[in-house]
Amino acid sequence: MKRVKIIGTGSYVPEKVLTNFDLEKMVDTSDEWIHTRTGMSERRIASDKDKASDLAVKAAHKALKDSGVTPEEIDLILVATATPDMFFPSTACFVQSAIGAKKSAAFDISAACSGYIYALSVAEQYIKSGKYKTILLIATEIFSRYIDWTDRNTCVLFGDGAAATVLKGVGGNKADGIISTLIYSDGKYADLLYLMGGGSSSPLTHETIDNKLHLLKMKGNSLFKIAVKNMVKAAREALTLNGYKVSDIDLLIPHQANKRIIDAVAENLELPKEKIFVNIEKYGNTSAVSIPLALDEALKGGRIKEGDLILMVAFGGGLTWGSALIRW
Ligand code: COA
Repeated sequence: MKRVKIIGTGSYVPEKVLTNFDLEKMVDTSDEWIHTRTGMSERRIASDKDKASDLAVKAAHKALKDSGVTPEEIDLILVATATPDMFFPSTACFVQSAIGAKKSAAFDISAACSGYIYALSVAEQYIKSGKYKTILLIATEIFSRYIDWTDRNTCVLFGDGAAATVLKGVGGNKADGIISTLIYSDGKYADLLYLMGGGSSSPLTHETIDNKLHLLKMKGNSLFKIAVKNMVKAAREALTLNGYKVSDIDLLIPHQANKRIIDAVAENLELPKEKIFVNIEKYGNTSAVSIPLALDEALKGGRIKEGDLILMVAFGGGLTWGSALIRW
């Protein structure tokens, strides 16, 4: 069986920066409240003309360059997104055409903020089974289009962006590559975070728009507690399953939803702060993008070296959650 390696990464965030001070002018909030409660200072907002696939293509080009893989070599394109260009065709098909990945299959994965870990798990199975050699995985989100900009409970939290990863099956006796991916769900908590307007349960009408059903709805307080519990559980299960201890982790890359969630996970695992990658201050919650964006920054910033044990843990709407344990 092949080992599955991440051989290139790339990311793209829109130029427009929305700061906490900008938000102070839009809703009844303050930089102090947002920073203390979430760890966020600013987030990026896509321009009106950009679609999720446009951000994805920009990130994909960077990851392909980083990996040395050409578009013609890609067997499969996976796009993790909760904010696709449209219901169908998939955003992955638009990316496939834009980058000229002539022989590639393409489809989207919907697991909200856990989308990258879910997609990584799918990619891992395709490569390990021998079906595909080279997979391009992109997370892309434009949540700014689905935010109620008059609701201070949600509008301060989310940001736009895209991040891509190239995965390849490799042989030989080295121990590097994906050790395990574990994914979980519990649909009974679907009402904690959802966007229903336009779906078959709620086709768009004047009434659904008046009731703002086309915008994201969230019960932040309940989500917070379940997020901490499930991220800790996912981290512990990944370590136990593979015979590692918390002290073996070189870098934890958690989903960046709230700095206080990340701190609570770290405290629960008794993992020192310097072993956790945090960039929420600059981007807010970019949903499926947050982990691959953090991975790209960690790699480019020299935070990961060959042989390191990397643990990623995600959590999101669904509810969904999961982990990826990787030897770099
Ligand atoms: N500015 C100022 N006050 C705000 C505010 C804002 N942007 N947003 C909420 N508040 C107020 C509330 O109205 C409430 O006021 P009240 O006590 O008068 O009713 C007060 O702050 C406390 O609200 P609460 O919801 O208890 O705050 P919190 O400490 O739980 O923080 C979140 C709110 C949303 C930041 C936090 O719950 C969170 O991050 N949850 C997880 C969200 C998440 O992870 N979502 C994505 C999952 S992938």
